[in-house]
Amino acid sequence: MFQYNQLKVYFRDQFVDFSQANISIANTGFLYGLGAFTGIRAHYNTKHKQLYLFRPHDHFQRLYQACKLCYFDSFTTNFTAEKFITVLLELLGCNNIKEDAYVRVTTFVDEQSIGVQFNGYKDALAMFLYPLGDYVATTGMKCTVSSWRRVDDNAMPSRAKIVGAYVNTAFSKTEALLSGFDEAIVLDQTGNVVEGSAENIFIVRDGTIITPPVTDNILEGVTRRSVITIARDQGWQVIERSIDRSELYFADEIFLTGTACRVAPVVQVDHYPISDGTIGPIVQQLQTLYSAIVKGDQPDYNNWLVPVYQ
Ligand SMILES: Cc1ncc(COP(=O)(O)O)c(C=O)c1O
Repeated sequence: MFQYNQLKVYFRDQFVDFSQANISIANTGFLYGLGAFTGIRAHYNTKHKQLYLFRPHDHFQRLYQACKLCYFDSFTTNFTAEKFITVLLELLGCNNIKEDAYVRVTTFVDEQSIGVQFNGYKDALAMFLYPLGDYVATTGMKCTVSSWRRVDDNAMPSRAKIVGAYVNTAFSKTEALLSGFDEAIVLDQTGNVVEGSAENIFIVRDGTIITPPVTDNILEGVTRRSVITIARDQGWQVIERSIDRSELYFADEIFLTGTACRVAPVVQVDHYPISDGTIGPIVQQLQTLYSAIVKGDQPDYNNWLVPVYQ
């Protein structure tokens, strides 16, 4: 496993050593969480001797929209999807990464000022690699419904993946961990089920896969979109509609999706087992397929992958 702090990183338009990529304690982005980010996985296929980036165009599009929202003009002016992906490929290539890696990409206000605003400030981009294995238990998670509610779109748009918004994630995740659960399931202000602390959520009822719509204060997850496509390709009906809390306890299966957790089955919510408390057949099928797709072992989905090595 590589040492992330020994690698080259991308910082303020150039590749430098990790130890040289630092910001000041007076940095405005650091002081107020004024940044936007995404996390992208690259999966190494030992048979193919190839490292595959998963859907970097989609990550770029979402980050671009967040940067537009935050008036990060340097990013929106200087970066196209092509340039963004070129930097990602160079980052992975120059570090000679031959194992699974997580690329954390952050755009942030790069000023030294105590004024809290976006306009009139310059922004910068930072990318570093992290050797992220399984972010959560993929063998069946125990979740709890959080007492912390998801921030509303009119306060802090969840679809933008804004750095400061992850205080909300930390509250719900911490509460879940301290209560002995693996992960939190979060409701919005109206009481609808929206997400895990940092994952999208799906439930299965009577053979239909259900997930909240993008208008229910969720992050428009790249993995969510991929899993909807994969499930429909397998013949499952997938519908996007609001989910009541009690449907969690009634569900036949529940799973979370995200770049970090990939497809992660949930076997218990609060003190209720989901069905018989074991991993259900639909999530098992999707988990297996998704793992093969991201490694380039399902050629029908290779248009989602960008190979790093020529
Ligand atoms: C709040 C939240 N929801 C969902 C996701 C999953 O999104 P994606 O599949 O694009 O990684 C994340 C990812 O970090 C997240 O932070």
